[in-house]
Amino acid sequence: MRILFLADVYGAPGMAAIEGNLRDLRRELQLDCVIVNAENAADGAGLTPKLAERLLAAGADCLTLGNHLWRRKELAPYLIEATRVVRPANLLEQLPGRGLAVVTTAAGDKVAVINLLGTFTMDPAQSMFAIVDRLVDEAQRQTPYVVVDVHAEATSEKVALGWHLAGRVTAVIGTHTHVQTSDGRVLPGGTAYITDAGMTGPHDSVIGAKKDLSLRRFLYQQPQRLEPASEDVRLEGLLVETDGAGRAIDAQPFRRAT
Ligand code: FE2
Repeated sequence: MRILFLADVYGAPGMAAIEGNLRDLRRELQLDCVIVNAENAADGAGLTPKLAERLLAAGADCLTLGNHLWRRKELAPYLIEATRVVRPANLLEQLPGRGLAVVTTAAGDKVAVINLLGTFTMDPAQSMFAIVDRLVDEAQRQTPYVVVDVHAEATSEKVALGWHLAGRVTAVIGTHTHVQTSDGRVLPGGTAYITDAGMTGPHDSVIGAKKDLSLRRFLYQQPQRLEPASEDVRLEGLLVETDGAGRAIDAQPFRRAT
């Protein structure tokens, strides 16, 4: 199976990159499954039901989220019904949505997608290490194809999770920093791994936002409302190829200018 994970879609430029390119990419790369982190789709922070539906209509099979989960209040009721949208699993169980989704590809294969949140410099969450084994077991009862999006700031947390799951899941893919790391590889046992898959959005920016606005935060140490930048829009992520048993046999960092 060929799985493309596309990293954090940032604002309108990121949306345009997906809507203008994903159909062609699916054909060109012969993709069976596309997973998109959509937690920055709404102006750089959060996701709305409308944007989620647009990403799914554009060719995404499953959407993942992160720390900006509750930024748009209309997302909460949508998450109850949206079977192809995954939110971090290590939050309170009574919150709306699911931390594990199983989607079916056009060929009829099932792919389980798990979303986790790191704890270093993030809002409070349960340790992802405390719940991930149970989630992986639950996923594997349904399919050997299991992809984990670990949304976290600290490289150490993501690397550690990769090793914890090496040989047990198809892929462990880091998100959140918006800067693609150079460590994409297949870990022993057939687990595709990258510490951060990057950003689908404007790269002439400070991790997606207009440079001058972001710089003001640092120069004047005052809150500043950020806006998405517009130039140098790229799609970034990780392209994973697997065998028929759900083991990764190749993991290539993906970068494409628009
Ligand atoms: Fe994030």
